[in-house]
Amino acid sequence: MLKFVTDEDGVKRYLVSLKVNGNAYTKMVKANSLLVNFLREEIDLTGTKKACEQADCGACTVLLDGKPVNSCMILTINVDGREVTTVEGLASNGKLDILQEKFIEHSAPQCGYCTPGILMSAKALLNRNPHPTEHEVREAIAGNLCRCTGYVNYVKAILDAAENQ
Ligand code: FES
Ligand code: FES
Repeated sequence: MLKFVTDEDGVKRYLVSLKVNGNAYTKMVKANSLLVNFLREEIDLTGTKKACEQADCGACTVLLDGKPVNSCMILTINVDGREVTTVEGLASNGKLDILQEKFIEHSAPQCGYCTPGILMSAKALLNRNPHPTEHEVREAIAGNLCRCTGYVNYVKAILDAAENQ
């Protein structure tokens, strides 16, 4: 049971503790706080994008305990005690993740709005299946809509990353 306080207007705020990209955060949030808004507005991780806010586009994809999820569909109070990885968590020690390197090499992003979500779906795929087929790559990013419709270079970049990781 989460601890909560009630303000003078009768609104409850819940005490939530979670890890994001390895860093621990403890914050008071309203019951209706969405994870995507928590990431962007409460802890300033704006790499995760928000577009449809109804689980259609995948722009808000993050890893929750290693699995890709639409963060616009998750309540922050349900992430208490869990681990989130966002696009800001992919690079380590100043070095880009191989997926980020290959996305650049293949000029995969166009406007780039869908890119963080596609990176996170691709990361989850390579974590569970280091040598995917093209079909498996396309399936893994099927929930990520690119309004610039540039899927071909994303697929090439992910396959290249898989070969060179
Ligand atoms: S913003 Fe979450 S799926 Fe579109
Ligand atoms: S690169 Fe523009 S939405 Fe995908």
